[in-house]
Amino acid sequence: MDPQVKLTSEREAFYRKIDGAHLSALWNVMGALITPEPKSGCQPFLWSFDAVKDYMMEAGSLITAKEAERRVLILENPGLRGQSKITTSLYAGIQLVMPGEVAPAHRHSQSALRFVLEGSGAYTSVDGVRTVMEPGDFVITPTMTWHDHGNPSAEPMLWLDCLDIPVVQFFDASFAEQHEADEQRITRPAGDSYARFGHNLLPVGFTGATKTSPVFNYPYRDTRAALERMKARDEWDACHGLKLRYANPVTGDYAMPTIGTFIQLLPKGFRTSRYRSTDATVFVPVEGRGRTRIGDQMFEWGPKDVFVAPSWHWVTHEADEEAVLFSCSDRPVQEKLELFREDRGNA
Ligand SMILES: [Fe+2]
Repeated sequence: MDPQVKLTSEREAFYRKIDGAHLSALWNVMGALITPEPKSGCQPFLWSFDAVKDYMMEAGSLITAKEAERRVLILENPGLRGQSKITTSLYAGIQLVMPGEVAPAHRHSQSALRFVLEGSGAYTSVDGVRTVMEPGDFVITPTMTWHDHGNPSAEPMLWLDCLDIPVVQFFDASFAEQHEADEQRITRPAGDSYARFGHNLLPVGFTGATKTSPVFNYPYRDTRAALERMKARDEWDACHGLKLRYANPVTGDYAMPTIGTFIQLLPKGFRTSRYRSTDATVFVPVEGRGRTRIGDQMFEWGPKDVFVAPSWHWVTHEADEEAVLFSCSDRPVQEKLELFREDRGNA
């Protein structure tokens, strides 16, 4: 697949000639286009929460949420600088909403998830219903739904945003609108979606299956309780410890059509077997401390840090204390396109 095609003066003249006609020779680029294994500029990296938080608070005094529309610092992969990407297919950033602020309502083609890092009591409104956000909650704002965020609490609120911006960019299918009001009108009581869809029950006669889960907040208290109960069984997957996938309760598919989300528990002292997969993955430790080897680099982590493992890099986690890791990737897309591949190493 990687022929070393010799450059002769005759060929060079030919390439120049066809270049003017917007043509190029496949035989010069085929090796770079069709690689034997995944090969992107995406690099392993870790952002320490404490360091990012200092910059976030500085941003908080520089610009209001209203003026910024969203006060976010983008987590730019060191190998993809200037592209607003944490992986080749995902965007991620840390958002800050200060007490009393509102991040005004808008909607767009891009699907978003929020994973709450710090603070308590701020809310996200999606299509007329509000959810109050607590640390560890996984909140979804589906494609083209109106959403705004407000913080009536006395504390700054910080969360991870992860969006499928590069996917939408790739398909050149982006639409966005501003709402005429800063905050949309609330038409249903807070927690209404969770009450209807979040307890292994569905409204009778419900036929409105959508590709995005109608449970738009998966509260950490319930996620954690599930892990805690499973832990009693003491059965650990060699590569993942105890790992669950967030699901759309109506379809059983991933909670979001473009971003797969996961939660995993690693017991104290657990060391995973090496694992690699084609979905570059963003990890957020929620509890505990440990380290993760990604390729030949080691990253020490604690709660609220964010780290990224590129496609097809070997990953090994080690937990010094019982640890819970949230993670997300483009796996739902890769699976549907029959591109997803994983390798469980020696497990
Ligand atoms: Fe948005």
